[in-house]
Amino acid sequence: MPMVRILGIAGSPRQNGNTSLLLDEALKGARNAGATINKIIVCNREIYPCQSCGDCRRDGICLLDDAMEKIYSLTLSSHGIILAAPIYFNSLNAQVKALIDRHQCIWARKTLLGEEVTDAATRHARRGLFLSVAGADDPRVFDGAHRVVDVFFDVLDIKYYERLLFFRMEEKGAVKKHPTALRDAYAAGEHLVAEISRSLGEPLR
Ligand SMILES: Cc1cc2nc3c(=O)[nH]c(=O)nc-3n(C[C@H](O)[C@H](O)[C@H](O)COP(=O)(O)O)c2cc1C
Repeated sequence: MPMVRILGIAGSPRQNGNTSLLLDEALKGARNAGATINKIIVCNREIYPCQSCGDCRRDGICLLDDAMEKIYSLTLSSHGIILAAPIYFNSLNAQVKALIDRHQCIWARKTLLGEEVTDAATRHARRGLFLSVAGADDPRVFDGAHRVVDVFFDVLDIKYYERLLFFRMEEKGAVKKHPTALRDAYAAGEHLVAEISRSLGEPLR
C-alpha cells in the first residue's frame, strides 16, 4: 500500500492564528497516523488571481507564471487535503479563494477536455478535511464557504470527509480557549489518514 500523502493548506494571513493552530494539530494527528506531510502557507506564496483569459479552455494550461505550478502538483497528487481558512465576509479569505480560482485550468482539463487529472488507481481514496473559524455568533456564517470548498474538492476528485467549524472565535488564539477544538483537529487529522488508508486497501470498484 502506498504511504498516505497529506497536504495542509494554511489559508490565513494571520500567522499562528486560529486556523493555523487548528491545521498544525490536524497535521500532527495525520503524521502520527503514519502520513507524510506537505504544508503550503498560502500568504507566503506568489499566487496571482485568475485573469479569465480563457486560454486554459483550449489546453488546460494556465499562462500565469507563479507558485501555482508546484501547488497543482501537490493538490493533484496528495491523497488527502486539509484546507484551513478563516471566514471573511461570509466566504473564504481572498488569498485562498485566489488559489481555488486558479484551479480553473484543472476544471477545464476535466470538464472541457475530458482528461483524467488524478491517478485512477488511488482516486477513490482521495479525501478532504475543511477547518474554519469565524468571529460571528452564528453557524450560518460558514454556508458560503462550504459551497466553495465543495466545488474545489470536487474538481480535485476529493470526497469530502469532515468539516470542523468554530464560530465566536474573533481573537487571535481564541481556539486555544475552546474546550475541544485543538483535540478535535488532531483527531480529525488522524481519522482522515485512517479513512484514506482503509480506502487504499480496498479493491477498485
Ligand atoms: C477582513 C475580515 C473579514 C472578516 N469577516 C468575517 C465575517 O464575515 N464573519 C465572521 O464571522 N467573521 C469574520 N471575520 C473574523 C475572522 O473570521 C476571525 O477573526 C477568525 O478567527 C480569523 O481566523 P485566523 O485567526 O485563522 O485568521 C473577518 C476578519 C477579517 C480580518
